[in-house]
Amino acid sequence: MTVARRNPAPSGAWHVRVDRARCQGHARCVALAPEIFEADALGNGRAIGDGVVAPALVGKLRLAAANCPEHAITVAEG
Ligand code: F3S
Repeated sequence: MTVARRNPAPSGAWHVRVDRARCQGHARCVALAPEIFEADALGNGRAIGDGVVAPALVGKLRLAAANCPEHAITVAEG
């Protein structure tokens, strides 16, 4: 899992991105955090909507990112 700060004054929102080149469709992200991830037509994971994650879901976001065997999920605060 990669965690990066986007700016020095976080807004409280988090952002997630799935690296399409790395994702192999293991779908652990979708299973662990269906509020945040969905499968595309090929079965690869992607963030729902614009990838903004509410602070209340950060625990699930981190869990999903930590369980991606391809390290395809990037999480950023702010
Ligand atoms: Fe892809 Fe990792 Fe999810 S491989 S489907 S981003 S668990």
